[in-house]
Amino acid sequence: MLIKPSVDIPSSEITNHSAWLNRRQFLGASAVMMLANSSASGLDAGQPLKFRGAAGSAVAGAYTDEILTPFADVKRYNNFYEFGTGKGDPARYAGEMSIDPWSLRVEGEVAKPGVLHLEDIQAGFDLEERIYRLRCVEAWSMVVPWIGYPLANLLQRFQPNSRARYVQFQTLHDHRQMRGQRSFTSSIDWPYVEGLRIDEAMHPLTLLAVGVYGEVLPHQNGAPIRLVVPWKYGFKSIKSIVSIRLTGKRPKTTWESLAPQEYGFYANVNPGVDHPRWSQKTERRLPSSFFEPNRIPTQLFNGYGEQVAHLYQGMDLRRYY
Ligand code: MTE
Repeated sequence: MLIKPSVDIPSSEITNHSAWLNRRQFLGASAVMMLANSSASGLDAGQPLKFRGAAGSAVAGAYTDEILTPFADVKRYNNFYEFGTGKGDPARYAGEMSIDPWSLRVEGEVAKPGVLHLEDIQAGFDLEERIYRLRCVEAWSMVVPWIGYPLANLLQRFQPNSRARYVQFQTLHDHRQMRGQRSFTSSIDWPYVEGLRIDEAMHPLTLLAVGVYGEVLPHQNGAPIRLVVPWKYGFKSIKSIVSIRLTGKRPKTTWESLAPQEYGFYANVNPGVDHPRWSQKTERRLPSSFFEPNRIPTQLFNGYGEQVAHLYQGMDLRRYY
């Protein structure tokens, strides 16, 4: 991953939380989910959250009270190497990928392997809103209101067995739809793959997102379904997933395979362990510009240590980076 120059986004575009909540009331008008418990994000209980194409109940959860990154930035400043290495490439080209039909296969060490189709993926589970920090290993970050459900809820449906120690995820592999996969200069061995330990996968913070900002996930953000692991560097949050395989062996992952000395399997956000080529002590919170870099200190486990530190008790985080 390369560090690119910062984007120039005027501070006037920064959306504060209450402005966004007002805007939300005017969003799309099909399926309406009632917020069963909205105290965390300051909404009135029972206020409708509109989410096109899905039905179910939603529980709002703010896992940070920081200012949200404007939706415009969330969908125009992306990493999705299947569509190019530039931050603007995914927004420009991810529309070339079709998500309907879509199949997500769940297999391996499970009692009931099976396939979910687009409708099950987007509406087959109770949806929640989760406001999480997202910290990229390149040292920029955002605050994003995702819509989705815990990965654990999906996995339980397929009944993992006692041999399931890890979970491997795979992105769509189709060079006709993904121009980055037909690039001769790409060093990635496609498809993009990621993995988690089973206890990380089952952790209640680990989310599968199908929407953002009250809308169906834009293609560039990983439509129709992507992982969000908020205490890990963003590259663990794999996009446009077509396969979830439970295994007994730790899976190989894309970035670890490319540069193991730079990108570890665990990839927990850690200001105390620098990337070999740059510091991880601080991050550029988007929107950010040359004159207003908006640099803030990075937090261990991206600020989610209270919830997840126990998963790594006794582990040397310098060795298992
Ligand atoms: N998933 C796939 N399939 N391909 C990618 O290139 N990039 C990762 C992650 N998921 C990536 C991916 C990286 S490096 C980051 S920081 C996040 O997606 C960015 O998510 P966003 O573009 O929605 O902010």
